[in-house]
This record gives sequence, structure tokens and C-alpha cells, in this order.
Amino acid sequence: MKKFRIGIIGAGGIAKARHIPVFLKMKEKVTLSAVQDLNESRAREVAEEYGIEHVFSDYRDMFLEVDAVAICTPNKFHAEITIAALEAGVHVLCEKPMAISAVECEAMIASSKKSGKVLAIAYHYRFKKESQAAKRAIEKGEIGESIVTRIQALRRRKVPNWGVFTNKELQGGGSLIDYGCHLLDLSLWLMEDVKPVDVVGKTYNRLSKQPNQVNEWGSFDHETFEVDDHVTSYITFDNGASLLFECSWSANIKSDAEHVSISGVDGGINVFPLELYHAKDGMLVNRTEQTILGEDNPWVSQAENFIAACLGEAALVVKPEDALKVTKIIEAIYRSSETGEKVPL
Ligand SMILES: NC(=O)c1ccc[n+]([C@@H]2O[C@H](COP(=O)([O-])OP(=O)(O)OC[C@H]3O[C@@H](n4cnc5c(N)ncnc54)[C@H](O)[C@@H]3O)[C@@H](O)[C@H]2O)c1
Repeated sequence: MKKFRIGIIGAGGIAKARHIPVFLKMKEKVTLSAVQDLNESRAREVAEEYGIEHVFSDYRDMFLEVDAVAICTPNKFHAEITIAALEAGVHVLCEKPMAISAVECEAMIASSKKSGKVLAIAYHYRFKKESQAAKRAIEKGEIGESIVTRIQALRRRKVPNWGVFTNKELQGGGSLIDYGCHLLDLSLWLMEDVKPVDVVGKTYNRLSKQPNQVNEWGSFDHETFEVDDHVTSYITFDNGASLLFECSWSANIKSDAEHVSISGVDGGINVFPLELYHAKDGMLVNRTEQTILGEDNPWVSQAENFIAACLGEAALVVKPEDALKVTKIIEAIYRSSETGEKVPL
């Protein structure tokens, strides 16, 4: 059987750390056959390092050689490259966030529908074993309808100092669009069919604008730092539920904190680590389900789901319509912080 051919667009950090090793692991089913980067010498180095056959200077030329691409460029280029690929008849796995604006996301979805090609967004947190188990428990009705969800995505003094993460034009924002987006996506998925109604948000970057940073991931230029490093938000939903959100790249806290919890009508759930609480026989019973058996590589599960969807063998786990919802909330948080007003959705 002819193998499914994959190309990588943007041969930087995430392509090398995750997508390339994962596709190479799947060599029974796929061939990682091409790579492209704006920086052609980087693309050549990566091709040589990983034994990738074709290197392109223009991604449009790559579309003739591959069945699907993984788009791993800065956020600003996600929409334009995705649409070009879909129009050329190529399936797309696009890195998160889907795009900087909801308008761009809508154009990407329209292009996927028109072409009939798959558009997946790399919100890999959904594929962590705890997330999958939490989803199954919620689907079984263990916690009932969600009432209050809490998200903390807090890094202690870890501003990414590589690439363009602190550049607003190229990334669209900082800690929220880069890190908080993962836990927002995961929470909305776990909360099932709720629709966001309005959003209040506040963004900060006072800490990262100061000179002489203490940053675990190395020094960065505080003068050109122009995005958020800490964000809080309050989001309400059509079923009366609410979500308390906080994310940061550079919090002054004791240690990193990654936390999603949902308090529901019949019980509650913590995702990291996975714990369930519900009322039984007159008591609130705690159940911890934290033995992870086998390898837990959400990136492999994500790639497998993407390929299976392209081959018509499975439904996508992260649908582009879900990722659009995340982008709408992110935009609303940024707008609310700018205007000082609550933003209706
Ligand atoms: N899923 C995750 O957990 C996760 C983690 C890190 C990064 N990301 C996402 O991956 C993307 C890239 O991040 P990164 O850390 O690899 O950044 P990076 O800066 O290390 O790599 C980006 C690469 O894209 C290339 N590039 C820039 N513009 C391009 C264009 N127009 N066409 C082709 N190539 C272009 C750059 O030369 C660079 O090699 C971002 O969207 C980021 O949000 C996701």
C-alpha cells in the first residue's frame, strides 16, 4: 500500500521536538517526505538530520509532493498557509492556536469544507491520558452538568526566549494565546456543549517589561517584550456555568501550577492529577485514578487521530470549529482588557 506522505512547514522548535520524531515513529503508515522553512538553510539542516528527502523554498511547491502537512510556523502564518494547502488538496494539521483572529479561523474552516480535506488543530492536551479518562468519566455522567470550572496554567518565571514568542504582530499575544489556549480548549471540551456568553479579562506584562529578569528559560529583551505574561479572566456560559481562568509565563509563585477542575451538579473532577469526587451514601467520596499504564505520548495519539481522519477511518478529536471557539474567547479576553468592558460573544 502506498504510504501517506507528510510535509513539515516551519522547521523550528516544535517541529523538531515533537512532529518530526512522531511521524518518523509511524513509519509503517506514513513517510515524512518533505520540509520547508522561510529559513532555507534551517530546512536543509533538518532534512539532513532526520533523513527527509525533499526540501522546498516555497511551500506551494511542496503541495505536489505530499498528502498532508503539519504547519509549525509562527501564529501569523497559520491561516494563509492552511488555506493554500487545503486549496491545493492537502490535509492540514495546524499548530495551536488555530490563528490569531476568529475571522481567519472562519476562513480556514470554509476552505476545509470547500476542499473536503481534513483540518485538525494541535491542541494535544486533549490526548493526554488524564484528559481522555476525564472525558470518559464526564460522558458517563460522573459529575453531571458543569457549574464552575477553574483553570490555572501558571509557569514560574518561564518566558520562552526563542523564536518570536514575545512579538505581538507575529504571535498575536503572549501567555494566553500560547499556553492558556491549551487549557481553555481542554476545559471547553470537557464542559461539553456549553456556549460562552460573555467574557471579562485583564492582561499584564509589568513583570517582563522590567530589566534584569530572572527567567528559568534564559534571558530575553525586556525592551521589545510586547505581549501578555499574566492573564486573568471570568467567562460565563449559556447554561449558567462560569469559568475562572488564570495563565502566566512568569508568575512569582512557589512552583508551576497546571490545573483544570470542574465542579458539577453531581460531582467534581480534577484533571491533573485525575481525581473524581461525588456524593455517595451520604458522603462526598474521593476517587483517584492516577495510574497511567503504558506510554503516555499525546503527540503520538494526536498524529494517529489526524492520519486516521485523513484516511476516513476516524472522526477528528479536535475539530476546527472547537478551536474557533477558543480563539473567539482569547480575542474577547484581549478586547475586554483593552476596553475595560465585559465582551459579549
Ligand atoms: N502544541 C504545543 O504545545 C506547542 C509548543 C510550542 C510551539 N507551538 C506552536 O508551534 C508554532 C511554532 O513554534 P516554535 O516553537 O516551533 O517556533 P520556532 O520559532 O522555533 O519555529 C518556527 C519556524 O517557522 C519558520 N517560519 C517563520 N515564518 C515562516 C513562514 N512564513 N513559512 C515557513 N516557515 C516559517 C521559522 O524560520 C522557524 O524555523 C507556533 O504556532 C506555536 O504556537 C505549539
